[in-house]
Amino acid sequence: MIEFFLNGQRQRVASTPDTSILELLRGPLALQGTKEGCASGDCGACTVAIAHPQEGQWKNLPLAYRTANACITPAHQLQGAHLITIEGLARGDALHPAQASMVACHGSQCGFCTPGIVMSLFALHEQQRTAASQPLDAHRLEAALGGNLCRCTGYRPIRDAALSMNDHPDTRPPWANDPTLESELHGLSQSVVSESENQGGYQTPTTLAELIIAMQRHPEASLVAGATDLWLDVTQRLARFDTLIDLRQVEELRQIAETAEGWWIGAAVTYREWEPLLAEHYPGFAHLLTRLGSAQIRNRATVGGNIANASPIGDTPPVLLTLDARLRLAGPEGVRELPLESFFLDYKRTALEPDECIVAIYMPKPQPDHELRVWKLSKRREDDISTLLGAFRWRLRDGVLTDVRIAYGGMAAVPLRVTAVEDALEGQTPGEDAFEIAKQVLRDSLTPMSDARGSREYRLTAAINLLERWRLTLARADSNAPTPEVALDAYAH
Ligand SMILES: Cc1cc2nc3c(=O)[nH]c(=O)nc-3n(C[C@H](O)[C@H](O)[C@H](O)COP(=O)(O)OP(=O)(O)OC[C@H]3O[C@@H](n4cnc5c(N)ncnc54)[C@H](O)[C@@H]3O)c2cc1C
Ligand code: FES
Ligand code: FES
Repeated sequence: MIEFFLNGQRQRVASTPDTSILELLRGPLALQGTKEGCASGDCGACTVAIAHPQEGQWKNLPLAYRTANACITPAHQLQGAHLITIEGLARGDALHPAQASMVACHGSQCGFCTPGIVMSLFALHEQQRTAASQPLDAHRLEAALGGNLCRCTGYRPIRDAALSMNDHPDTRPPWANDPTLESELHGLSQSVVSESENQGGYQTPTTLAELIIAMQRHPEASLVAGATDLWLDVTQRLARFDTLIDLRQVEELRQIAETAEGWWIGAAVTYREWEPLLAEHYPGFAHLLTRLGSAQIRNRATVGGNIANASPIGDTPPVLLTLDARLRLAGPEGVRELPLESFFLDYKRTALEPDECIVAIYMPKPQPDHELRVWKLSKRREDDISTLLGAFRWRLRDGVLTDVRIAYGGMAAVPLRVTAVEDALEGQTPGEDAFEIAKQVLRDSLTPMSDARGSREYRLTAAINLLERWRLTLARADSNAPTPEVALDAYAH
């Protein structure tokens, strides 16, 4: 049984482990306002908003409504949450500002994308309410809407609608004025679902010890965190899961623990939760997150999932490789640590034993003179997987490159460091001569494959061009000037 609130009303519904929120809504709950387009998290037609009291609790964050793709989010992840759908926004005939502004700006034609777009605008409007929120600029607007496609209207009227939400009466949804809702929600989210109640095998351990036991009892089960990779097996490859073990409530996987030298990032920490730390200490890495999936994806997807999935084009592994990241793994034999570099063995093959999970990822604190640049190349800027990603970390001491780390995604079966190129540049002055040698070494070191995203030749040329881009960055008089992407974004808006 799943117990949650839907548009302010308490619900208790039965569901199989591999039912999505979208299936639950459009089937048993008979709410068809939420649409299905791609069924793979790409179009945003199915966007809903979810608030979970436990999310962000470790930082005492207020309850927040975050967008999610209902098509790839397990219905069981609604346990103890408040789900808002398009049906839950208007107060009688009085439209929510997100709806009223879309009407006023003619933001809808066929209307298929409209519920999803309105839900993204609703979440944006809610965020604007919080005292800490920054003014709505074009960058934040595009970050909020980057996961919503519209084929007919064109984005300008939708953008106009987003920017004019505050021109409309601030009509709160009916559930927003219920003073008991939040405390009921807190109570509900505390209720631990026991295994016997967990009909159909959706396991929700809350500690690492419980997780290990669940994995031992159910060796056939898949682990699930944000489900943004795993659920494509259900919707695209028609896989069925009789048993799933959810990692999102496991305390040890949900924390960011600071040490003197760095941070252990819990494997089930989402990109949205991780982003403020990165923005403060590794802005180049934080900038990459603005290019990773969409707001809907970043709200739910986890760094542990990105690493465990072991895709050669996953975005965070190359960057973490340049940071000398380490992994903490746990299984019935206990806990062990290993360098991230030793984790990726071959295409989608890792050092993780079948009965192990990733608990946390260690990221060192930046040294004052360490620099990091990350460049992602993809066909679209928003919500697109990398064709190629290059990450570069170095120190410049007395005009000489030291501690050079270079890693690429999309250039081999696994994300990898190119140590031969690092060696070619270590101890060198970053001039054209040294980089010409480094480029030749890179050309000799890598044999990328051709696929739908890019040919072998394109990838090799682009990887070499990223080396050149790094050289040009180093040549800039002020190395603290914004990264080329930041400068480009500023120009674009
Ligand atoms: C529309 C869309 C856009 C995307 N864009 C990007 C992008 O731009 N860049 C990018 O890198 N990725 C992208 N992805 C892929 C995906 O979002 C990321 O890889 C994400 O980090 C996966 O995290 P998750 O929590 O959703 O993983 P899940 O789907 O829950 O899990 C993925 C796999 O890892 C395993 N797993 C998860 N956590 C653990 C753990 N702690 N220990 C052991 N095994 C574990 C699961 O069993 C599963 O096999 C995109 C996906 C979608 C649907
Ligand atoms: S239906 Fe396209 S993102 Fe869900
Ligand atoms: S209005 Fe038709 S897809 Fe957006």
